[in-house]
Amino acid sequence: MKFSSKFGDVSAANTQSIVIARKNAQAAAKALGIEDRVQAALDSTKGSGGSAVSVFADKKPTIVAIVGSDGGVGSSQALAKDLAAAARTVAGTTARDVTIDMASFEPDDAYLFARQAVQAFANETYRFDEYRSKKPKAPTLSRLVVLADAESRGDVTRGIRHGSAIAEGLTLTKDLGNHPPNVCDPAFLASEAKKMAEPGRVTVNVIEEKAMEKHGMGALLSVSQGSARPAKLIIVNYKGGKTQKPVVLIGKGITFDTGGTNIKPSPGMDEMKFDMGGAAAVLGTARAVIEAKLPINLITIVAAAENMPGSRASRPSDVVTTMSGQTVEILNTDAEGRLVMCDAMTYAERYKPRAMIDVATLTGAQVVALGATAAGLFSNDDDLAAALAGAGDRANDRMWRLPIWDEYQDALKSPVADMKNVGGREAGSITAACFLSRFANGIPWAHIDVAGPAFRAKKATGRPLGALFQYLLDTA
Ligand code: BES
Ligand code: MN
Ligand code: ZN
Repeated sequence: MKFSSKFGDVSAANTQSIVIARKNAQAAAKALGIEDRVQAALDSTKGSGGSAVSVFADKKPTIVAIVGSDGGVGSSQALAKDLAAAARTVAGTTARDVTIDMASFEPDDAYLFARQAVQAFANETYRFDEYRSKKPKAPTLSRLVVLADAESRGDVTRGIRHGSAIAEGLTLTKDLGNHPPNVCDPAFLASEAKKMAEPGRVTVNVIEEKAMEKHGMGALLSVSQGSARPAKLIIVNYKGGKTQKPVVLIGKGITFDTGGTNIKPSPGMDEMKFDMGGAAAVLGTARAVIEAKLPINLITIVAAAENMPGSRASRPSDVVTTMSGQTVEILNTDAEGRLVMCDAMTYAERYKPRAMIDVATLTGAQVVALGATAAGLFSNDDDLAAALAGAGDRANDRMWRLPIWDEYQDALKSPVADMKNVGGREAGSITAACFLSRFANGIPWAHIDVAGPAFRAKKATGRPLGALFQYLLDTA
């Protein structure tokens, strides 16, 4: 889809369809000369958050989508719901283009409105049909115009630019997640990352298993040793800032998680193709940041491996030495995410980051605690946690902080090694985060567990890219 802006009032809308907010529908209708029809639609329906009513006119714009409640919208989550309804309604028609009448929504923040509008329409028209031999028809809708008043020109233009960048990142994140795991393996993630390289601005490096051995990444290597597909540590280095220290993002890239020797039960195992959701989200974030040319330095690291029960797979009770020197007793090979992430975290120290944020589909316990609505957020730094949670709120990509108090650390005591890789049955997301916290080594660090939010109904969602982009924008 193409996204653009136009400045003027509703009568200037030269598209087949238009979206207006219900609370100001009549003002727009007057300008379009369709007051009676709009009034009839308002009288015969009840407005509510996330609802849309269609009205049809004789002349352009012939399709009018009236969205939301009579009271208008408050939060960014409410606005996102109304915009999604608008996009769904218009994308369901034969309209090729759509105007959204920003003024009718009376947004507090024109920048965020334009950005969210772009995201909503991009999301609604996203398709993944690469593996169908007969391609379904693509949506006809291919252009969105944000119509606004001249004073908000700067904000709207920037909102559209950032919205398009985020949409591109989200497409990458979703595509990576939706590919089957026989295609999207660690080598595939590496080659997709390499496509982001740009002379002078973006460099991409891939560390192979030989080099991992030299670095002493015993934990990461223990996960891939059961698979015929070698692990890759992928590093995307974006230099958009001057001398300031970089933010490091680290993503869990388990391209398929069978559980390994502690093999998972069959029902739902297919969903473990999404176990690279963290990796996909950080790569998509890098893509969006590069596209938006944010003035920051960003290092994106992906720990990619496949967790298989091959003949060389690790066994419960194996002990490995991590790159940090700490030893780990592997008591469950299905707690593999923390094993790949801990070595990536130690590797990240060399960049002297001002913050290190890891994203992982780490625990089923996160899904039990928070579901798909909020990601689990853990941090050793209150300011970083607050900045991320706030960014998530504004970007409608929420996360909720859980504690990593010392009391929980006790669950990781091992009879033979420095720690074991699993706690008990209780507080599984927290003990997983406690494990990772031991590899932060004084760096401000946050961990985002997206086991629930990363995919929904067998489709990748792209989360938490929106929150990460907002956080990085806020730090710029
Ligand atoms: N990849 C899973 C976590 C997961 C579960 C992601 C559901 C997405 C949806 C992770 O590697 C895992 O298997 N975790 C175990 C840890 C346990 C063995 C301590 C879990 O949560 O059961
Ligand atoms: Mn697992
Ligand atoms: Zn996993």
